[in-house]
Amino acid sequence: MSETNPKLRAELEGIPTYKPGKPAATGGPVAYKLSSNENPYPPLPGVLESVTAAACAFNRYPDMACTGLVNELSDRFGVPLAHLATGTGSVGVAQQLVQATSGPGDEVIYAWRSFEAYPIITQISGARSVPVPLTPGDVHDLDAMADAITDRTRLIFVCNPNNPTGTVVRRAELERFLDRVPGDVLVVLDEAYREFIRDAEVPDGVELYRERPNVCVLRTFSKAYGLAGLRVGFAIAHEPVAAALRKTAVPFGVSQLAQEAAIASLRAEDELLGRVGSLVCERTRVVDALRGQGWTVPETQANFVWLRLGERTAAFAQTCEEHGVVVRPFPGEGVRVTVGETEANDIFLKAAEAFRGAL
Ligand SMILES: Cc1ncc(COP(=O)(O)O)c(C=O)c1O
Repeated sequence: MSETNPKLRAELEGIPTYKPGKPAATGGPVAYKLSSNENPYPPLPGVLESVTAAACAFNRYPDMACTGLVNELSDRFGVPLAHLATGTGSVGVAQQLVQATSGPGDEVIYAWRSFEAYPIITQISGARSVPVPLTPGDVHDLDAMADAITDRTRLIFVCNPNNPTGTVVRRAELERFLDRVPGDVLVVLDEAYREFIRDAEVPDGVELYRERPNVCVLRTFSKAYGLAGLRVGFAIAHEPVAAALRKTAVPFGVSQLAQEAAIASLRAEDELLGRVGSLVCERTRVVDALRGQGWTVPETQANFVWLRLGERTAAFAQTCEEHGVVVRPFPGEGVRVTVGETEANDIFLKAAEAFRGAL
């Protein structure tokens, strides 16, 4: 047997591995998973029935063009069919966007800390990451991001609301930023948590995209729509970008189950968004309670809260686990906690109070 290993691309060395949120413990007392920003509700009945029906035919390949879903999205957003592209979750689409725009020698700008997939997918494509620190208030520093643009910049991610801080950028500042970005640089507005926004000053990326050929909007069915396990997300972008996304897609990546579930979810939207409304109420309750306990909590427009705990991050996560909730620690920085079902939020608040009491 040969001693040599297959040659792998040098760019893969040192890539941070994507850390999924830890699952809830099994076998213990009550344990809730508040580590992945998932929707805590089970699928709506109509959605479950559609998926069950589709499951009877999974010996067949799915519709590669996602025709039914794309038609539904086109009507819903008032955008041409050619401006839509689907993928295996919005992270799949984000990876295709980087692949389509950026290679060795190119630069990808994003705020940091932000969604942890950005550095990974940038490095995989061989491009250089240009992370721009958040402001002291944990918000995107759009002026600094615009200042970071060079003639090598190909793509800029703006995560709005930002994962993991929940903070947002508002219309005037975002438009000012977009005005500074050269037309040949793609700006990706990652709106994975769009449905949780209640601040009227936060623009809908779909409105911004209409007038700007270099703006692309990323959305997902994983969060508000509760389909994280089925892997379906999409982009709305002008034709050259959407066409490039179709070229870079893994053939048959979005399963028929995912397509049917997404269509059924859009049709059950009123009920689904009612559930989102309940989560938003819970978010207010959690943030108010934390502030009442003395915590500094940045204003969040997503389905999670951020506590900048620095060196106490790991200890806090441990305390939460001992109480029965699993949260998402970013060692040395802070903890992101998903707003979940009421019982889970109550346990988390108890843990946070106990931790403060022990300080
Ligand atoms: C900001 C952001 N974008 C994209 C994603 C990817 O979600 P999915 O691939 O499930 O659509 C996530 C998931 O955590 C996220 O937080």
